[in-house]
Amino acid sequence: MKKILILNGPNLNLLGNRETDLYGKESLKDIENSCKKKCDSINLSCNFIQSNNEGELINLIQSVQSDFDGLIINPAAFTHTSIAILDALRTISKPKIEIHLSNIYTREEYRKKSITAEGVNGIICGFGSLSYTLAIEAMNKLIKK
Ligand code: DQA
Repeated sequence: MKKILILNGPNLNLLGNRETDLYGKESLKDIENSCKKKCDSINLSCNFIQSNNEGELINLIQSVQSDFDGLIINPAAFTHTSIAILDALRTISKPKIEIHLSNIYTREEYRKKSITAEGVNGIICGFGSLSYTLAIEAMNKLIKK
């Protein structure tokens, strides 16, 4: 069975309580459950992890090359700041998709630039928690192509 990693960056552990007008009322656990259900339905195995720590995220990204078939990542605020996460993404030859709950291109100027996007195959953003399940569908096609 093909195996993917779904990584979540800083403050996403607070989903459901945090700026719900922007990010919705679902908790990260709710989103994890939807992702697991989606993956089960298409016969993919998935690990779903959140970290507030940049170094930990980088270690997990580095593990994708040997331990997973693809990566879905919501780098959260590191999207706009982290060349280190971009560099880690660039070391992986497996399919990679960046996702965001909100449409970062309709928000503050400083969110309109994604540094990490340069290291992935494509981005899905602006669909709330649906961004995650859409990314799983796209990942399934990329992996099984
Ligand atoms: C986010 C968008 C980022 O700009 C923000 O820092 C987040 C969440 C999103 O999913 O919409 O923490 O990645």
